[in-house]
Amino acid sequence: MSDVLLRGRGVSRDHRLPRTKVFGPAPVRRVLHGADVDIHAGEAVAIIGESGSGKSTLVRILLGLQHATAGTVEFDGRPVRPRGIRTQHWLRRRTGIVLQDPYASLNPRLTVARIVAEPLRSLQIDGDHRRLIGEVLERVGLPHELASAYPHALSGGQRQRVAIARAIVHRPDLLVGDEPMSALDVTLRASILELLRDLQRERGMSLVVVSHDLGLVRHFADRVFVLHDGRIVEQGPTHSLFHHPRHEYTRRLVDAVPRFSRPGAAPSATGDAPRPGADDPSAPRGPGGPASESTTTHTEE
Ligand SMILES: Nc1ncnc2c1ncn2[C@@H]1O[C@H](COP(=O)(O)OP(=O)(O)O)[C@@H](O)[C@H]1O
Ligand SMILES: [Mg+2]
Repeated sequence: MSDVLLRGRGVSRDHRLPRTKVFGPAPVRRVLHGADVDIHAGEAVAIIGESGSGKSTLVRILLGLQHATAGTVEFDGRPVRPRGIRTQHWLRRRTGIVLQDPYASLNPRLTVARIVAEPLRSLQIDGDHRRLIGEVLERVGLPHELASAYPHALSGGQRQRVAIARAIVHRPDLLVGDEPMSALDVTLRASILELLRDLQRERGMSLVVVSHDLGLVRHFADRVFVLHDGRIVEQGPTHSLFHHPRHEYTRRLVDAVPRFSRPGAAPSATGDAPRPGADDPSAPRGPGGPASESTTTHTEE
């Protein structure tokens, strides 16, 4: 296996809860229990678990956006310590993140071009920014005219493409998507995931996608981490995790994936490569509701 790009060891996170008594310590809840994570250069990894299992907490700590209560994180051998913006400059230069909600994550007062330019400006990246922005918008599948549009004029899928353009414009080594598909309509989920995977391959980046949908990630992830109640209960190559899940919780997740029969029956994964998500029409819709990429207005909020 290639070099480890991102390494977390014993990563734990406690949250202090509101005091219920006047005396004595405030109660503490541990939401992440000593997670060990290696992300290798150039690989695609999925972090799977149900809502509240600690996925966002884990990736935020790995990207230096949140403190760990215990444990260490290293990116390319360098310690990651969330201590103010300046010390994180080098890490932001080398990473990009796409969040779940394409409605909330874009500044409504900025044009698409300005939004995508922001990392180039704040990271003080040299070069012809106009050209870089034009190239990246084209690459994520946004028509040239949209560069001067404002987010309210875009569909949900288009907004998420803008968020992806912003996350990769500075050519990071690691792209993280925290449930980047879950606010989108089912049909869009597959195309966004495909775009992320294509970009990862083209650019040789590492890709980490957080999702609660094991069915969706199985077509793109080289490896899967399964998070349950703040613990990584299982990890492994995607194929073996699907066909030979060891942990009872993973087994339940695998069995819940539509039309996936866990053998006993013959392994079917070779030659079995439907488009991601295309076999999952029953997946629940996110709060964004249906959104068509062909529409140019979006009235939901
Ligand atoms: N500031 C906080 N105070 C107390 N609990 C928190 C706080 N932030 C997150 N949590 C709890 O930590 C757990 C993990 O949250 P999160 O990492 O967002 O899970 P996921 O992304 O898997 O849905 C959840 O139970 C959540 O309620
Ligand atoms: Mg989350």
